[in-house]
Amino acid sequence: MPVAVFELPDGAEQTLDVPEDWSLMEAARRDGLQGIVAECGGGAICGTCHVQVGAEWYARLEAPGIAEEALLEVVPERCPTSRLSCQVIMTQGLDGIRVRVPATQLEL
Ligand code: FES
Repeated sequence: MPVAVFELPDGAEQTLDVPEDWSLMEAARRDGLQGIVAECGGGAICGTCHVQVGAEWYARLEAPGIAEEALLEVVPERCPTSRLSCQVIMTQGLDGIRVRVPATQLEL
């Protein structure tokens, strides 16, 4: 099964098994990963599942949709490789993807 490596705000890393066709957010929630709030459950309407994707992985992802782009405009700690983890769907090609969890998420 593919894995994703989450770098936490304190610098610790957590490697999660992510079944194909699951979002990174779903695996983070399943394993109780700190910092991925995911208030809307994956609907791309809350922005509380923001991650900063490793630059080498970012180009391999599907482009963000309009709703995701709009939310990424307002998330804290936005960077050029920011994505909503609920919109990053695991494939074998993404095995080993690295993402950083920001210290703060959008306040609702
Ligand atoms: S879980 Fe709400 S936008 Fe990702």
